[in-house]
Amino acid sequence: MPSKYANLQEEILDLKKSRNAIILVHNYQLGEIQDIADYVGDSLGLAYRARETNADVIAFCGVHFMAETAKIINPEKTVILPDKDAGCSLELSCPGEELASFLKDNANKNYYVIAYINCSADVKALSDCICTSGNAVKIVESAPDDRPILFVPDQNLGAWVMEQTGRKMDLWQGSCYVHVEFTRESISKIRDEYPQAELIAHPECTYAVRMLADVVCSTEKMVDYAKQSNASCFIVATEEGMLHRLNKEVPSKTFISGPTDHCACAECRFMKMNTLEKLRNALRDLSPEVTMNEETREKAKAPILRMLELSN
Ligand code: 13P
Ligand code: SF4
Repeated sequence: MPSKYANLQEEILDLKKSRNAIILVHNYQLGEIQDIADYVGDSLGLAYRARETNADVIAFCGVHFMAETAKIINPEKTVILPDKDAGCSLELSCPGEELASFLKDNANKNYYVIAYINCSADVKALSDCICTSGNAVKIVESAPDDRPILFVPDQNLGAWVMEQTGRKMDLWQGSCYVHVEFTRESISKIRDEYPQAELIAHPECTYAVRMLADVVCSTEKMVDYAKQSNASCFIVATEEGMLHRLNKEVPSKTFISGPTDHCACAECRFMKMNTLEKLRNALRDLSPEVTMNEETREKAKAPILRMLELSN
C-alpha cells in the first residue's frame, strides 16, 4: 500500500528534477524526508556532499548552520532551508559579538580558535578551524602546539575531545539543550530493563552519560558501529530521528531511544521544524533562501576548507 506521503514525495522529486536540485538531509530529520534524500548523513558528510555537488540548488533539510555552511562553500548556488527558523541551541549559546569581544579582551593569549560546526557564520569567520563531532579529535590533534586552544561553543564535545587527546583547551560554556537532557538516572533505568543492550551516545551528552556509553561518536559513526558490533540491541542517546536511519540500514538489530527524565525519547524542536510540505514549498518558490554578508562568507570559508582538507 502506498504511504500517505507518496503524492507529496513524488511532487518534491519532480520539482527537484526541474530545479536541478540536490536534497541533503541530516540524520535527525523526519523519516519521510530522509526517505527522499539524495544523501542522508552527519554534519561532516553533508558538508562534503555540499562541496562536491553540481546541482544548481541545494535543498538542505537540517538546521540553519548546516545550510549556511553549504552556502559558504557554494556562493553561486541557491541554498534553501524548508523552515528558516530551524536554528540550534549551540549556535544561540555563542553570539558572534560575544566571541569577538572575548577574543579582544584575551588578545594576549593568541588563541587558536576551533569552532564546532554548530555555530553561526559570524563565529566561523572568527575561527582558525572548524570541526564536527566526526572529526573533532583529528582537528584538535592537528592544531599547533605552541598556541592555547579555545574550543567553541560546545563544552561537552570539547571536554570529550580533551579526554580523547589529552590536549588542554579553554571551553566556551555552550551546550545542546537536547543532549544534556539525558541523565545518568534516565539511562541507568533503561539499561536495567535491557541489560544486554549497548549504549551509543553522542559526544554532546554530559560526562555522566558518556561514562556509561560503550561508544561515543557522531551520528554517522553510530550506523557503522551498530553494523559491526556483536550486540543485537542498542540504547541510542541522541535525537530520536537517528532511529529511522538505524532501523532502515541495520534492520536485523533493535534500537531503543535513550530516554530523558521527562520523555521516552529526545526530540530537537529545531530539526523537526522541517516538513515535507515546507520542503515542497521551498523547492517550488526557491525560498526561504540562505544568504549572508559576502565579507563574512569569505572569512568563514577558510576554516571550513581547512577542516575538509584535514579530515580527508
Ligand atoms: P552530527 O554531526 O554527529 O550528526 O551532529 C550534529 C548535531 O547537531 C548533533 O546534535
Ligand atoms: Fe543543535 Fe542540539 Fe538540535 Fe543538534 S540536537 S541541532 S546541537 S539543538
